[in-house]
Amino acid sequence: MKTGKIIATALFITGAFSLASAATAEVNFKRCIVCHGTKAEKVPPGGTIVSATLSKEELKKTLKEYKTNKEHGGKMKATMQLQVKPFSEEDLDALAEYIFTNFHIDKK
Ligand code: HEC
Repeated sequence: MKTGKIIATALFITGAFSLASAATAEVNFKRCIVCHGTKAEKVPPGGTIVSATLSKEELKKTLKEYKTNKEHGGKMKATMQLQVKPFSEEDLDALAEYIFTNFHIDKK
């Protein structure tokens, strides 16, 4: 009986957590729209890639690399280093999930 209750509580907490991070990502993504478009469908100024074409793993990796690896990225990398600065790795993963889930465009 007791175990059931603990498991139910744990499931509830995990569920609430992922909902919260999806909602946070939606809010955080508003900062990206000015350069990447409302659906991550634009090539950012000075950039070369449409973020919406990247896979979920590519998005997670590139966002975290901008945060941890100074050498990562193209000639505009300094712009993105500044953008990812306020976010934790969890926030960046949630942003990647959000972009992929809502806006993904298949590369032709
Ligand atoms: C001031 C404009 C600007 C803002 C705001 C901005 N970006 Fe970028 N982003 C760029 C530029 C420019 C590049 C290309 C950087 C390079 O040369 O490495 C880029 C690159 C990226 C990339 C790598 C692939 C690609 O699309 O070029 C991802 C993913 C990305 N940005 C996501 C985000 C997310 C998520 C946010 C919001 C938290 C954000 N960006 C905010 C300008 C911006």
